[in-house]
Amino acid sequence: MSKVLDSIVSLSKRRGFIFPSSDIYGGLAATYDYGPLGVELKRNVTSHWWRAMVNRHDNIEGIDAAILMHPTTWKASGHVDAFNDPMIDDKQSKIRYRADQLIEGHIVRLRSKGKEDEANRVQERLVEALHAEDMSKALYNVIIDEEIRAPDSGAFDWTDVREFNLMFSTHVGAVSSGEDNRIYLRPETAQGIFVNFNNVLDSTRQQIPFGIAQIGKAFRNEIVARQFIFRMREFEQMEMQYFVKPGTQMEHFEAWREKRMQWHQDIGIRASKLRWHEHEKLAHYADAAYDIQYEYPMGWQEVEGIHSRTDYDLARHQEFSGKKMEYFEQESRERFIPYVVETSVGLDRTILMLLSEAYTEEEVGGDKRTVMKFHPAIAPIKAGVFPLVRKDGMPETARKIDSDLRTEFNTFYDEKGSVGKRYRRMDEAGTPLCFTVDGQSLEDQTVTVRDRDSMSQERISMDRCLEYVSNYIRNWKRTD
Ligand code: GAP
Repeated sequence: MSKVLDSIVSLSKRRGFIFPSSDIYGGLAATYDYGPLGVELKRNVTSHWWRAMVNRHDNIEGIDAAILMHPTTWKASGHVDAFNDPMIDDKQSKIRYRADQLIEGHIVRLRSKGKEDEANRVQERLVEALHAEDMSKALYNVIIDEEIRAPDSGAFDWTDVREFNLMFSTHVGAVSSGEDNRIYLRPETAQGIFVNFNNVLDSTRQQIPFGIAQIGKAFRNEIVARQFIFRMREFEQMEMQYFVKPGTQMEHFEAWREKRMQWHQDIGIRASKLRWHEHEKLAHYADAAYDIQYEYPMGWQEVEGIHSRTDYDLARHQEFSGKKMEYFEQESRERFIPYVVETSVGLDRTILMLLSEAYTEEEVGGDKRTVMKFHPAIAPIKAGVFPLVRKDGMPETARKIDSDLRTEFNTFYDEKGSVGKRYRRMDEAGTPLCFTVDGQSLEDQTVTVRDRDSMSQERISMDRCLEYVSNYIRNWKRTD
């Protein structure tokens, strides 16, 4: 992991953003728990997404489907047969790698050494292998021909490339064997939306084009799970499927691409840290697919996928369930299975993006200051409230300001330690504003307000604190 990512992991644990899951037992690989600050951050992101997608579009409905679904769902969706990753083992270290990622890593290393032509040649081979009939064999051949060594051991001693299904399965009821009662933890939330297409259509007055959105957990038995919360076995997705008339999908696809890129900037991500990545290998059911990538501390990686999925999912559910998944268009008197444009963003990857974007180390008066420069709208705590000292009525006045602010915002009251230390703690939590009650406050009803980013202070009237926070959130712009 990169040094910055290490610092983010350690700050996350120290300040209560993210803990390893079941920490007292040594953790469980690729699963994490969100702490007091992390859960606030997560809630702010989900409500921002919900407002942007559901509340601001009168033609998008929200649902919350069960994690456990009828097992035929996953046969219809293709996940039972084809939700596989091509894996290869280093026989010496016994470490397992995803074959395509191993080759991608090799390409990145070639580029970093300035060997652009060679990198381009291997890239072409990778694309060919990903499209090959026998993808496993083709990927294996690239690894062997290019003499790609294991990143951890340096060995060149590989097994064949084999396919591993990524779904977690379990059994319903008391009998825990056989295929009859096998069910799966959903590997994506999307299928909960597809199987509810008729229910939502029948219970609302929506007409095509319209969307269904949901936020929920998904599970994948990722073989290579690392890089903190980037690739987890239990994670959360925020997905929206937009149902459109066949033939119009590309115009909707382009419109959603634009809106989704803007959303990332609206939560405080600099445009220079975001880019598009067009899929080299389209899934057999897709007619277009782009990822939004963010420049994480470990490099450019996908945070969101935007896919044009044709009528594949609804048609397959129609075939497997025997239930019609059609839409009748009044004007044209036409009946058709709608096409789908999907936007699918990982909540945890969004959190890692926000932590990475916010993490800043600065030198202040010879000391290191660590500050999380979150957009105030998504910062876990909006304001710290302090009495300068614990006497002369200052705590009572500060408590009163705190409780007024709490009617609208999450705040943090702190009276322990020096004010300088209290500011630093709030900087690490990413709290944009701190109000301090001092001796003058009791005379003229003013407080100081300190800005997290510039560290500048001004005096304002005590009764303006609430309004000050609202205006600050609305007008904030990142300055560096
Ligand atoms: N319904 C489409 C779908 O699931 P995907 O590209 O497999 O598409 C969408 O996943 C998003 O879910 C990704 O862009 C990523 O942000 C997130 N995601 C996928 N696998 C993940 C994992 N193992 N850990 C964390 N987030 C993951």
